[in-house]
Amino acid sequence: MSTAAGRVRTAILISGRGSNMVALIEAARAADFPAEIALVAANLPDAGGLERARSAGIAAVCVDHRPFGKDREGFERALDEALRAHGIELVALAGFMRVLTPWFVTRWQGRLINIHPSLLPDFRGTHTHARALEAGVAEHGCTVHFVVPELDAGPTILQARVPVLPGDDEASLSARVLEQEHRIYPQALALVASGAARLENGAAVGA
Ligand code: GRF
Repeated sequence: MSTAAGRVRTAILISGRGSNMVALIEAARAADFPAEIALVAANLPDAGGLERARSAGIAAVCVDHRPFGKDREGFERALDEALRAHGIELVALAGFMRVLTPWFVTRWQGRLINIHPSLLPDFRGTHTHARALEAGVAEHGCTVHFVVPELDAGPTILQARVPVLPGDDEASLSARVLEQEHRIYPQALALVASGAARLENGAAVGA
């Protein structure tokens, strides 16, 4: 994606604490990182990550989804407007807890990525760590993928695996996975922003 014009203007969308957001902001401090974090947007005003973004000197806005009720696309139009107002070219979802409609996903196709705390296609959706423990898998992990209209079904850019250890509970397993999320999300963002990884005909190329 990277052009002669410089670093790719990237927005991070969050709903909560924003630890992946912080990992991306820190990686993007390097002068040779191909993406610039130009905006953080949350769908809830009390998302802890908003304050963390502001203290890192990043523009941070809230587009509250609640006044839109069931009008998901209305919320997404407002969000899209904020992204365009900041000249955003690439969007990274980082703990963003809203399902996006085909309208938004199609509009940002190939320029919209997400991190999911499982080895997709295993454990799409929520409560992935509890479900992994219940299923008794030996390995668990996380996936960065391009977003497509079907939930958690987009092509993989990068994955990291961790062992599930005897005595693990949700907290210990999620902490082990989160450490890997913070490692691979910046790498995946760099791959997409530099154009090394692309979405072509529904598949991830160069990933
Ligand atoms: C992460 O586990 C991410 O994979 C999932 O939501 C969690 C967000 O954590 N989508 P944080 O807000 O980045 O700390």
